[in-house]
Amino acid sequence: MKLCVFGAGYVGLVAAACFAESGNSVTAVDVDTRKIEGLKNGIVPIYEPGLKELVLRNQSEGRLCFTTDVPDAVANALICFIAVGTPPGEDGSADLQYVLEVARSIGRSMSGYRIIVDKSTVPVGTADRVRAAVQEELDRRGAAFEFDVVSNPEFLKEGAAIDDFMKPDRVVIGTDNVRTAEIMKELYEPFMRKNNRMIVMDIRSAEMTKYAANAMLATRISFMNQIANLCERMGADVAAVREGIGSDSRIGYDFLFPGPGYGGSCFPKDVKALIRTAEECRYDFLLLKAVEEVNERQKEILAEKLIRILGSPDEEQPLTGRTVACWGLAFKPRTDDMREAPSLTIIERLLAAGATVRAHDPEALKEAKKLFGERIEYSSNQYDILAGADALVIITDWNEYRTPDFDRIKATLKQPLVVDGRNLYKPDRMKSAGFRYIPLGRSG
Ligand code: UGA
Repeated sequence: MKLCVFGAGYVGLVAAACFAESGNSVTAVDVDTRKIEGLKNGIVPIYEPGLKELVLRNQSEGRLCFTTDVPDAVANALICFIAVGTPPGEDGSADLQYVLEVARSIGRSMSGYRIIVDKSTVPVGTADRVRAAVQEELDRRGAAFEFDVVSNPEFLKEGAAIDDFMKPDRVVIGTDNVRTAEIMKELYEPFMRKNNRMIVMDIRSAEMTKYAANAMLATRISFMNQIANLCERMGADVAAVREGIGSDSRIGYDFLFPGPGYGGSCFPKDVKALIRTAEECRYDFLLLKAVEEVNERQKEILAEKLIRILGSPDEEQPLTGRTVACWGLAFKPRTDDMREAPSLTIIERLLAAGATVRAHDPEALKEAKKLFGERIEYSSNQYDILAGADALVIITDWNEYRTPDFDRIKATLKQPLVVDGRNLYKPDRMKSAGFRYIPLGRSG
């Protein structure tokens, strides 16, 4: 099939490359000339395992091309995907200006039947607005082409996006047209396996499914973070509790790991947007408001522990003269993405408390430098930042940190204090190795 994908960002680029890989002819369109010129020359602007190889292969085999020229992209495409950003507006609601601008540009350029697919995360009711925007442009041109609007939300996880796209748990297709549903099913057929499902539903339910999925996952994390905080106070072990509750098939084990709070470009934004959508319908989504508040507090917890252990209580800046080494800045492993990362709050809090902060991350140092500049020290060697530091705090669960050289950590730190926000190590082993080990939701 011939497709075009608007937005060569994270979702758009992954979708374009994966659809090309399954044999379709795909044009990716973006207004950012530099980005498109880069892509034409094989420069992939985001770090995502496997993406670069996929882009280069499909480009060289002629199935994937890049352009800034909308009419050119829309001219031959049966299906036009909208995968542009929906950043939060000041009130937390999703800003639809880019989605609607793309819809208008499709309306200005289309020359026959088109299926227009919302892949961006958009609030319930957006498909109607996309339809109206396209129709308005057609009316302006005096053109009478048919088109359908589909909601096809994306459930990719950063760091595992290619795999998630190629082997999805499910594909959700929101449409009110049987013929369109069949075309969409055909498009996704190559990605379907025995255990995954293609779910066709009405458009509004598909739009809501995306927010409900992310809000549910965020709720599980905030819930588990509070259970962890309570475990700490009660002498229980959150890892055992997770095993205990996860074995109930109604609950399951996934997404029950406590941590320094969820971050990234999706959960914080989508939770906010759903609260806002509810407000617009005069519905108070109390539970999600609490999920968000719990998450904000959770981001403070690692810094608070360090201040409690290392701080001079009488000082205005209790960590003056102290140095803290941070392992992990990205909001999660296998990405350089620092959007809403818990490390931002933790490091700001440590700096405000007067600490010297040093940081290591396998991928995100460049991003971090844009945000913190000279205010913190960086190293691409995870052990170098430990020299003379009063504590090591683990913020992101990169594989590099799972089985480190403990002797080297102990020999390099000024004192063997490890505050672990991801419960990477066995408390008894850390104790017998001579560490003061402070995990989350369990005794050290
Ligand atoms: C999330 C969803 O998992 C995807 O299904 C969805 O498609 C995507 O948002 C989106 O809307 O585009 P992502 O933001 O890439 O994906 O990252 P996750 O792996 O879900 O992690 C989000 C945050 O939750 C991270 O900060 C992570 O550390 C935290 N987390 C995750 C926990 O604290 N505990 C857990 O048990 C799991």
